[in-house]
Amino acid sequence: MSFSLSRREWLRASGLLTAGLTVGQLEPSSAATPDELTQASFVDEFEFVSPPEMPKLRARLLANENPLGIAPSAKEAIIKAADSGNRYAFSEFGQLKQLIATDEGVGPETIMMSPGSSDILMAAADYYAKGGGTILTSAMTYDDLLSRAEKFGAKIVALPMKKDYTFDLEAIKAKLTPDVKLVYIVNPNNPTGTILPTAELEAFCREVSPKVPVFIDEAYIDFYEPAERPKLGKLVAEGKNVILARTFSKIHGFAGLRLGYAIAPPDVLKALKPYTNGEFAVSITTLMAGIASYKDKEWQNHCRAENAKARAYTTKALTDMGYDVIPSSANFILFPIRMKSKTFSNQMFANGIGIQGREFDGQPFCRVSVGTMDEMAMFIDSFKKVVG
Ligand SMILES: Cc1ncc(COP(=O)(O)O)c(C=O)c1O
Repeated sequence: MSFSLSRREWLRASGLLTAGLTVGQLEPSSAATPDELTQASFVDEFEFVSPPEMPKLRARLLANENPLGIAPSAKEAIIKAADSGNRYAFSEFGQLKQLIATDEGVGPETIMMSPGSSDILMAAADYYAKGGGTILTSAMTYDDLLSRAEKFGAKIVALPMKKDYTFDLEAIKAKLTPDVKLVYIVNPNNPTGTILPTAELEAFCREVSPKVPVFIDEAYIDFYEPAERPKLGKLVAEGKNVILARTFSKIHGFAGLRLGYAIAPPDVLKALKPYTNGEFAVSITTLMAGIASYKDKEWQNHCRAENAKARAYTTKALTDMGYDVIPSSANFILFPIRMKSKTFSNQMFANGIGIQGREFDGQPFCRVSVGTMDEMAMFIDSFKKVVG
């Protein structure tokens, strides 16, 4: 598992998760120098501390969040839903599921809501790792499900990616043995931002899912143009053993509000459910905001267009400087850099620009989330200063 990485891994590698720094705030401590950032001890990802007088990052480009915030319609829905805060949500889950089901061409019984897709990932890790076995995936992918499964006894086989930084589906197929419990694919992939050709992925799922469940983490799917988006829900509708994990954390800007869902055959959802905290873990305010945001296609189109614009600007600026930027279909960009990743991240951070640096196989990389145009201009400006 030397190449996979989670938010925690990225942050640790970047020297950002240290005493005085939190994921919640991710602001430099006035007391810590960039050098101390790499030396201080690692704290748990979600340990929240609030040291006084922490200067704010000028650009927080390290957690693939939506820099434009949540939709005004979602904000309005939260305020309205506050009046129902004394009631458990019942029919509201059905409303959102019905909206999603209609778009995806599946039945609402194939959808399970969750507070962020992490809960679905963790449930799958626990369920499929039970009793050992192997999980097949690619090197350089999102690590949360994998590291959890490993802790619970699964063996993780992370195969090399193709030269274009996409999952090598043929290599995965060649490694299918009776011991394999799950195939984990992230599309678009984090941290590479690459996508698999839809037809190839669909053919893979059709061939593999009768033998082994295929888990597709689609956290960044909303950054595809809707017309080009893979519609793998149809595989679930056909009863194929495919699990899709989705989140509102990205284009909807709900990273802090927490909303996600799984689309999978009902018997698979039934098996995963005991490993979750149940749908009631989603608050009525988040749920109502989710319904408003899901319906608000105009806001989603706006966020997608702004992301594409800032991503193109950043990609061009880096390419013009001679960097080989991996073409991204998501709201972050990965590219190899020419200085040590820790030194690089610390210097960027000292400039008030939060990014993530990491080494894969001895090669240092920068992963920068796509912020607003202003933030990306600040990133490029600081990048030029740091790399000299
Ligand atoms: C690939 C991938 N999957 C899942 C998640 C989990 O997101 P959340 O729990 O906020 O839905 C993330 C978060 O960054 C991610 O990058």
